[in-house]
Amino acid sequence: MYRQFVHACISYISIGVPVILAETSNTCSKSSLSQLLPGGSNATIIEVTPVPANGTFGGGPADLEFPTNDTKLPALCAVTVNVPSSENSSFNFGLFLPQATDWNGRFISSGNGGFGGGINWNDMGTNSHYGFASMSTDTGHISSTGDGSWALNDPQSQADWGYRAMHGSVSLAKELTKSYYGKSISYSYYSGCSTGGRQGLKEVQMFPEDFDGVLAGAPAWWTTHLQTWTVKVGLYNLPNNGANHIPASLFPVISAEVFRQCDAQDGLADGIISDPYGCDFYPETLLCDQSPPPANATAPYSPPYDANSSACLTGPQINTLYHIYNDWVETNQTFVFPHLALGSEAQWSVLLDTSVTNSPNSLGTSWVANFLLSDPNWNYNNFSYSTVQLADQINPGMANADDFDLTPFYKRGGKLLHYHGLSDGLIATGSSIYFYKQVLKTMIAKGMNLDDWYRFFLVPGMQHCANSVNDAPWYFAGANQPFELGSSVYSVPGFSDPKHDILLALMAWTEEDRAPDSIIATKFANDSVEAPVIRQRPLCPFPTQARYVGLGNEDDAESWECRALY
Ligand SMILES: *[C@@H]1O[C@H](CO)[C@@H](O)[C@H](O)[C@H]1NC(C)=O
Ligand SMILES: *[C@@H]1O[C@H](CO)[C@@H](O)[C@H](O)[C@H]1NC(C)=O
Ligand SMILES: *[C@@H]1O[C@H](CO)[C@@H](O)[C@H](O)[C@H]1NC(C)=O
Ligand SMILES: *[C@@H]1O[C@H](CO)[C@@H](O)[C@H](O)[C@H]1NC(C)=O
Ligand SMILES: *[C@@H]1O[C@H](CO)[C@@H](O)[C@H](O)[C@H]1NC(C)=O
Ligand SMILES: *[C@@H]1O[C@H](CO)[C@@H](O)[C@H](O)[C@H]1NC(C)=O
Ligand SMILES: *[C@@H]1O[C@H](CO)[C@@H](O)[C@H](O)[C@H]1NC(C)=O
Ligand SMILES: *[C@@H]1O[C@H](CO)[C@@H](O)[C@H](O)[C@H]1NC(C)=O
Repeated sequence: MYRQFVHACISYISIGVPVILAETSNTCSKSSLSQLLPGGSNATIIEVTPVPANGTFGGGPADLEFPTNDTKLPALCAVTVNVPSSENSSFNFGLFLPQATDWNGRFISSGNGGFGGGINWNDMGTNSHYGFASMSTDTGHISSTGDGSWALNDPQSQADWGYRAMHGSVSLAKELTKSYYGKSISYSYYSGCSTGGRQGLKEVQMFPEDFDGVLAGAPAWWTTHLQTWTVKVGLYNLPNNGANHIPASLFPVISAEVFRQCDAQDGLADGIISDPYGCDFYPETLLCDQSPPPANATAPYSPPYDANSSACLTGPQINTLYHIYNDWVETNQTFVFPHLALGSEAQWSVLLDTSVTNSPNSLGTSWVANFLLSDPNWNYNNFSYSTVQLADQINPGMANADDFDLTPFYKRGGKLLHYHGLSDGLIATGSSIYFYKQVLKTMIAKGMNLDDWYRFFLVPGMQHCANSVNDAPWYFAGANQPFELGSSVYSVPGFSDPKHDILLALMAWTEEDRAPDSIIATKFANDSVEAPVIRQRPLCPFPTQARYVGLGNEDDAESWECRALY
């Protein structure tokens, strides 16, 4: 009691006496943390756990979105907080507070994926190794990433997911962090991918004061169009017994042909398509030929008769490919959503393998049914462009991060790093390019160049947020990436510097004004940080591209340079 009382008194005059506070407040217990809640807050400290060095922590299987625990954590205080957001809704957040001597004086927040609800202890654990006080919110519900059923008839929970839980968690977590250490926070950061990327951009747009630096990967920023496009892409390949249907067994055949035609077009045949938009793909080479039936075949013959019919496509299937590789455009050239990029085929099973569920991916259908139409029995065959128009009218949960005027963030001195894999099969890469161009048009017109505070990096060969095709270098310690390589991995082992670690790059830019002219991506053999590095290559700020200089080992970053093509 005495300690808590001392703390309460001193925090009242906190600015002047940080040393005393650091000694009195740093107690990792529920009663101590409860005392640190700001006056008038109706939040509740749910759980406080001191985690020893090399300790394990997480939500376990009950955290449906992040069921795997962190291991080998630094010593820290793990805090879970519940915050009411309306009469009948609330959200939780987790906060990892390293020991005062380990704290780097900074705060960072992580994001979520899909419609998932759960505290991202995984990215928090990663970030705690750098010394951050790290936070993540469950966005107001518990669910796996593809499950939107929690949103049914629940506009309050939709708003929590859309923007409210993140901002509310950031605000309170920062207050707790300051009180816990008895010091102000020197810099605040954000790092998230997918829905996490959307959450980051939403913060930049709605709450520009929250973060000094934001790292947004593969952002699901255009919710009303992205989720409906997900239905549309599934419909391209339905019904499963239609002549248009491309079975998943043909995806590798299509991929091989795309690489055959496009790989070398960027100047080097290396299994990496650096410029899919520069490739003029001719899918008709995949057409099943009309060779006569084999001499010993018996009638009736069913075309196609190809030398190997499991390695070719029919005309109707080529038409489906045409839809997949072209933007979704409605009447009067109204642009709705960009297309999946050439080179994304290895991840097509997510949106295009309709054979299993006989339906488009639930990231589309579950959103339309639960967020938009409040009709759990909605039939995707009723989908039309009017569904998109209705979505734009309602904008459920205000989730769209589509305010392209980033003036307030620019004016407060914020830095934004944005990246997207060019082989992303879940969120069309073009949606990030579109976002960047919209911001560019908006800000240039107001006399603000982007290069000083907003840079965007395409990642050749990278899939959704992590992993790659054909050993393309994809690892740069972006959101979700370290945990992908192991539950105790952080930064880029062996290359823990701002040239290779995009979070360190963001910090160098924010704190020392050292702008990232490139980020070197790494590929570890077997994606194991214990194995040797097999390839490194610079990622270049859009619209420049990495080009092989013509000399030296192609797998060394030094053999490449960022070149302006326009
Ligand atoms: C860390 O914990 C693991 C078990 O999670 C244990 O095997 C290992 O020996 C520990 N290392 C140290 C340095 O304590
Ligand atoms: C995960 O961590 C939680 C909290 O520390 C613990 O209760 C649970 O037993 C752990 N689960 C596993 C599988 O380690
Ligand atoms: C307390 O919770 C309610 C929702 O029930 C919210 O509207 C209100 O703003 C909260 N008060 C504070 C001080 O956070
Ligand atoms: C939440 O409360 C509001 C009124 O306060 C009500 O309109 C709404 O239906 C409630 N939502 C749920 C999911 O109970
Ligand atoms: C037919 O094509 C498939 C897919 O490319 C391949 O796996 C298979 O070996 C081919 N069969 C023959 C007989 O060439
Ligand atoms: C397309 O444009 C024409 C000419 O401006 C307009 O009359 C028509 O209503 C538009 N159609 C749609 C569906 O927007
Ligand atoms: C599908 O659309 C038709 C016509 O617009 C409508 O009558 C029907 O109720 C819809 N069915 C579902 C399941 O939404
Ligand atoms: C990668 O994994 C394969 C299969 O497990 C193994 O044979 C190979 O030695 C590994 N390579 C490295 C560099 O660790």
